[in-house]
Amino acid sequence: MASPPLSVALLPAILVAAVIYLIAIPDGFKLTEVLGAGSCDSSSNDDAGGSAKKNQQLQTATDEPVDLRVFLGIMTVPSAYERRAILRLAYSLQPRPARAAVDVRFVLCTIDKEEDRILVSLEIIAHGDVLVVNCTENMNDGKTYAYFSAVPRLFAAAPYDYVGKTDDDNYYRVAALVESLRGKARHDMYHGFLLPCHWPHNQYMSGMGYIVSWDVVEWIAATPELRDDHHVWEDEDFGAWLRKGGKNKNVYNEEPRMYNYWDRDMGYEKIDCFWHAHRADAVAVHQLKDRLKWARTLYYFNATQGLRPSKLYNVDLENNIYKVY
Ligand SMILES: *[C@@H]1O[C@H](CO)[C@@H](O)[C@H](O)[C@H]1NC(C)=O
Ligand SMILES: *[C@@H]1O[C@H](CO)[C@@H](O)[C@H](O)[C@H]1NC(C)=O
Repeated sequence: MASPPLSVALLPAILVAAVIYLIAIPDGFKLTEVLGAGSCDSSSNDDAGGSAKKNQQLQTATDEPVDLRVFLGIMTVPSAYERRAILRLAYSLQPRPARAAVDVRFVLCTIDKEEDRILVSLEIIAHGDVLVVNCTENMNDGKTYAYFSAVPRLFAAAPYDYVGKTDDDNYYRVAALVESLRGKARHDMYHGFLLPCHWPHNQYMSGMGYIVSWDVVEWIAATPELRDDHHVWEDEDFGAWLRKGGKNKNVYNEEPRMYNYWDRDMGYEKIDCFWHAHRADAVAVHQLKDRLKWARTLYYFNATQGLRPSKLYNVDLENNIYKVY
């Protein structure tokens, strides 16, 4: 008995694969639209500004010329695979800012574990949105300096107007951020949530997220002694660096449009200058430490409105906290 030719044996498998493909990826839906960045960034770090231009994760909404460019680094650790997956959804599904390009990248220190070197390499191939800088992840100092001093060198050929640093439990609403930054100073500039709240001394921007102008990151890169100028929290040290260097001439406090996530499940006694309910004009929401907080936040900001009716699924979005308030 001869076995059937190989092509016949394979046919059922191909049909099954085709059916799975059609069900999983409904009509007209392109993965590249969701994921934003392409995989063309693999030449990456040494071709400096070139990759920035090719691979903007959040490009401008219209054909109008771009007059504001922002590099936003999300500090995270190699093992935070699920958080990066949520962040990619959160950033790639946002409305695009007008006349601005915002490049969002994950920032890691030198990767030391075998599994992370391989799996993060695959993320880089698939998404092209990772920046690895020279520091050690498990130390409490050095990443802030390593990041801010690397960016002006990597992108010297195509400088940004602003460079930001943010946590992986923070959600910047990029269009609101751009609208706030437009018209602000583009030198000696420091933008974020000013701490301590309502106390005008030794101020610094909360580590939830802050933005500085390009001249500030150039100054940081040209001032290597800052690397060892480390006393308290890195973000508090950062404020002290700018004060000492006279680089904080244009300080913009974004409170209350930047805040920590709060909902009524958390109790009303928690509300203060950091914590309050969502507001529609938010620039950034912080302390998104679990899936439910991310989900409620993305729902509040209407990210789920893109879900199209289909006979393939029926998801009840009505029964949740922002509908029952
Ligand atoms: C990384 O930083 C360490 C400590 O600052 C330094 O000794 C080393 O030369 C740096 N490595 C590279 C590749 O720049
Ligand atoms: C979400 O969409 C609804 C309905 O269009 C609108 O009323 C609401 O203001 C939007 N929320 C935000 C935060 O933009």
